[in-house]
Amino acid sequence: MKRKLFIARKLPEEVVAPLREKFEVRMWDEAEKQIPEKVLLEEARQVDALWTTITENVTRQLIEASPNLKVVSNLAVGFNNIDLEAAKEHGVIVTNTPDVLTETTADLAFALLLASARRITEAEQTVRNGEWTSWSATQLTGMDVFGATLGVIGMGRIGEAAARRAAGFNMRVLYHNRTRKLESEKRYGFEYASKDILLKEADFVLIFAPLTPETKNMIGEQELAKMKETAVLINVARGGIVDEEALYNALKDGTIWGAGLDVFEVEPVPMDHPLLTLSNVTVLPHIGSASIRTRLAMMNMNVQAMTDVLEGREPKNRVV
Ligand code: DGY
Repeated sequence: MKRKLFIARKLPEEVVAPLREKFEVRMWDEAEKQIPEKVLLEEARQVDALWTTITENVTRQLIEASPNLKVVSNLAVGFNNIDLEAAKEHGVIVTNTPDVLTETTADLAFALLLASARRITEAEQTVRNGEWTSWSATQLTGMDVFGATLGVIGMGRIGEAAARRAAGFNMRVLYHNRTRKLESEKRYGFEYASKDILLKEADFVLIFAPLTPETKNMIGEQELAKMKETAVLINVARGGIVDEEALYNALKDGTIWGAGLDVFEVEPVPMDHPLLTLSNVTVLPHIGSASIRTRLAMMNMNVQAMTDVLEGREPKNRVV
């Protein structure tokens, strides 16, 4: 009997094909619509392997209701959508997609930093809306990136890749992390700083930490108050790390100058979200790892991991 596998998002058929050869595969096939929780539970209940993305929650309830489940592969490096404790308790292996997305996500972080600093999306709208009526010396003036101080909170693989990009802009790099990165300090001149010093001195604060109970709302009213009035906050990690109400207030009353957000507490961000009313926020729909090559590499990694588990091998990139 073939092992059973469920794919909770519509994924390209050429990626899924090798799985279909070996396993009985079912896939949620509404491209633009997320699978309802009830349907996910029902599907998971019957399978040996579950392929998820960041939009599906793999809860304790799901794991406990799925007696044959052996592996959950998540199409992301982050895994805050999965109850790891429950997975561990029930012997369910969880895998993710580190490394292949590091440079791509760092590129996006820098793109968002540049776009926020130089008001790129506002500027484009000005042209498209027919509001570019004449050149003006003060129109759409922004912040210099060259020579500024970058503060990276969460110096993991992606944080460090973003920090390396700063050299091209002659930036000073401060970082805050649970552990010091002495090798990188020596090699690239990155400076370790307490969170307070980083917030006070950085012109651009980049968030790369994972979302955990400890990092939830790590950037709130008090932290924002420590930042420069000219500072820009960039978040490409997870929405829950930044207190969105506090950020809205800080951007509205000029506590900080701007923000660039690729992630939100609730995604897709509701259209009536107060942050969307502000022109000093650049917003993106969680596209950090979205290059064609990287997404393909991530998907292939998940295919390999699920195949390994179902064929009795230890998968790479095992989280638990
Ligand atoms: C990740 O990998 O965690 C991203 O947020 C999804 O691409």
